[in-house]
Amino acid sequence: MENLHDKRKVYEKSQLIESEIKQNPIEQFRDWFLDANESPEVSEANAMAVSTVEEDGCPRTRMVLLKAYTHEGFIFYTNYNSRKGKAIENNHKACLHFFWPNLERQIIIKADLEKVAENLSDGYFHSRPKGSQLGALVSPQSQPIPNREFLEKKLKDLENEYENVEVPRPEHWGGYLAKPYEIEFWQGRPNRLHDRIIYTLEGLDWKISRLAP
Ligand SMILES: Cc1cc2nc3c(=O)[nH]c(=O)nc-3n(C[C@H](O)[C@H](O)[C@H](O)COP(=O)(O)O)c2cc1C
Repeated sequence: MENLHDKRKVYEKSQLIESEIKQNPIEQFRDWFLDANESPEVSEANAMAVSTVEEDGCPRTRMVLLKAYTHEGFIFYTNYNSRKGKAIENNHKACLHFFWPNLERQIIIKADLEKVAENLSDGYFHSRPKGSQLGALVSPQSQPIPNREFLEKKLKDLENEYENVEVPRPEHWGGYLAKPYEIEFWQGRPNRLHDRIIYTLEGLDWKISRLAP
């Protein structure tokens, strides 16, 4: 057995205290997201883990990129026929997770997922580089495929087909809006006495509590 018992880090970069936080968690998210996005030590601040629950009752997690956030929630784009898309059809609940190690911060968001309006998906799809647009057409995301050549051949064919033509957004590709009802902010602190502030939606109001680390 290789044990990692002595592998630990002292968290001491910052603090999260009630007198300094925002009353609205999306505004608090914004403060922390901007810190992460501006930090040269964080390479993809908008990368987040999204867990969905599959039919066997087990959660499954994968990374996606946050592409927008508003007072309504958090938006990411994917293939609606993918494994996550199928899980979401059966259970629209998700957990979103951000971890920015260099800032010693994590955010855990419980949310209800819904598809975004088609015009929003169209707008984002067409803003992507053409290669990424074609990639969405090429890939039957989460399906078994015979080999890598299958993808490369399909890409070549589509590159020819759409050489001077706008690539249409496939119907099965688009965004999800994750509407939060609970958001926890975690700031690492010395001696494992970390700060945990949790916002819970009660009716239209966000209730703020501190959790023990
Ligand atoms: C940093 C990172 C960002 C990713 N962003 C996305 C994304 O925005 N949308 C997406 O569909 N897949 C994205 N992926 C790939 C997913 O993790 C995953 O492999 C894919 O969506 C299929 O997941 P599923 O089979 O669980 O549906 C990303 C992977 C990584 C590592």
